Amino acid sequence: MSESLGDWKRTHTCGELNSKVSGNQVTLMGWVDRRRDHGSLIFVDIRDRYGKTQLVFNPQHNDKTYEQAKALKSEFVIAVKGVVNTRPSDAINRNLTTGEIEVEISDLRILNEAEVTPFLITDPREGSEELRLKYRYLDLRHPDMQKNIILRHQLTQVVRKYFDQNNFIEIETPVLMRSTPEGARDFLVPSRLYNGKFFALPQSPQIYKQILMVSGFDRYYQIVRCFRDEDLRADRQPEFTQIDVEMSFVDEEDVFSVMEKLMVSIYRELMGQEIKTPFLRLSYQECIERFGVDKPDMRFGMEIQTVTDLLRETDFRVFNDSITANGVIAGINIPDGASYSRSQIDELNKLVQSYGAKGVLAQKILEGVLQGGCTKFLSTEQQNQLIQQLQASDNDLILLLADQPNITYKVLGALRLHFGEKLKLIDKTRNDLLWVVDFPLVEFDEDEQRYDVMHHPFTSPKEADIELMESDPGKVRARAYDLVLNGTEIAGGSIRIHRPELQQKMFRLLGIGPEEAQDKFGFLLEAFKYGAPPHGGIAFGFDRLAMILVNGNSIRDVIAFPKTASALSLMDGSPSHVDEKQLNELGLKIIENDSE
Ligand code: AMO
Repeated sequence: MSESLGDWKRTHTCGELNSKVSGNQVTLMGWVDRRRDHGSLIFVDIRDRYGKTQLVFNPQHNDKTYEQAKALKSEFVIAVKGVVNTRPSDAINRNLTTGEIEVEISDLRILNEAEVTPFLITDPREGSEELRLKYRYLDLRHPDMQKNIILRHQLTQVVRKYFDQNNFIEIETPVLMRSTPEGARDFLVPSRLYNGKFFALPQSPQIYKQILMVSGFDRYYQIVRCFRDEDLRADRQPEFTQIDVEMSFVDEEDVFSVMEKLMVSIYRELMGQEIKTPFLRLSYQECIERFGVDKPDMRFGMEIQTVTDLLRETDFRVFNDSITANGVIAGINIPDGASYSRSQIDELNKLVQSYGAKGVLAQKILEGVLQGGCTKFLSTEQQNQLIQQLQASDNDLILLLADQPNITYKVLGALRLHFGEKLKLIDKTRNDLLWVVDFPLVEFDEDEQRYDVMHHPFTSPKEADIELMESDPGKVRARAYDLVLNGTEIAGGSIRIHRPELQQKMFRLLGIGPEEAQDKFGFLLEAFKYGAPPHGGIAFGFDRLAMILVNGNSIRDVIAFPKTASALSLMDGSPSHVDEKQLNELGLKIIENDSE
């Protein structure tokens, strides 16, 4: 095997030959996808990122290469020279762009051999996810993964082009920075030069982009890596990418308009689809009461109905106790759910308990009559109105919950999604985009017994609600917004506080004293003294957007080298131990943990 390719030059990719070039001499290079030995002939599919081409080794044509081809195994890297032949009509493969032709080989070079791979690169994909992550380079050879990674690249191009054409400037911000809170835990980097001190990896470039507004870069964007040490889920990674945006002299509508047009460009250029603007806007409160979540999937109905007023007057203790304790009664209707057996309803009870509720009341509608659950406590009038309000009909199942509003709506929201999937009610061909607005500025943290921010501490309250910041903080609405696509939060942002007095008021509300504020955010507060323009912005979860565009189940599908759900990189074995010398330089000592 020679190291150099010499005069062998690739003339075509493995995805471009067709009958128009029939008779031409070509040189292809790629991986052996599959070898089929038909005795008198050997067929080999050669693969690269552009596609697959069928090669034929014919002993009548060239005995030497035919013999060589016997040694070929999956994933060998080869170079071949040959002539393009149109296939006989019964051998044409319409599923393949190169399916009209095959290449009859005259010369073969094995550029590199491959050991038997831990899984085959086949359709459907083989191997457990763990194995595929360990050998990620092999999984990345799969056409589905290549398609995803290429779409991600194209998404980057569309985003850059869009922002460039709209006068935004891409500015890089530091990866080693001061720890600034965004709600998650920081990843820390110990300093060698200043033992005992740490950099933090940015949870987002939030403070830097605000400072860039002070510097006069009124339209900033960046495709940027962010780091958060938090519990992982299908749509969360410890390092992920944001399309980060900040603008000066704007209000909410300006940010919405820029972002809506970005989404239009993305769908037009990458999916060939036109999406309608302006997107729907719903208040946080409405989302919670209708869908039980602040990121509603609106591709199906089954909306939550609040029936507290209707059921205020009953002899049912569960309802009365809940109403006395300022709770709510609400429900959803499960189409054709009346056929559920007792054990299926028991399962439902277990499910809602796992979500944090005490239980669920299940009422069937059989021959127009409500049965079971709380029915016996309701007047006929109440029963009929309940059926009507939930838009239920014969053979449906009405599920009711009576609890504190946060639990009731959250659990019904989870049930709605559960049944939406189970009953296949979600129209997966739709793209439903909406802005969720009017988030509360703060929420009360029961454990810590103090108010905590919903977004981040630089988010501006609504002008009309500022006066409530001291008297009734829970009622203050924020100038914050999220963009939701098919039930996934793909972006979040806000109009910021730009006046120091309001910022201080916000810190007071959060129980952050002047010293702590100075220590944590002093540099931002200092910058704000020198003429900070009104500003606001947003950040997109780039990976989440890419995941939805490729129809993936997890953002791991669109990240070349992701971590597992337990935050490990199986391929390079990180995180890993480091040697004593490195620790000493950093002034660190490891305290061995029992769990190690
Ligand atoms: P936020 O924290 O809402 O806002 O993040 C913005 C968007 O980033 C995505 N996202 C994630 N994606 C993958 N893995 C994660 N661990 C992860 N965490 C968040 C989500 C989310 O909508 N600085 C503010 C933005 C601003 O105010 O301008 C911020 O980071 O899609």
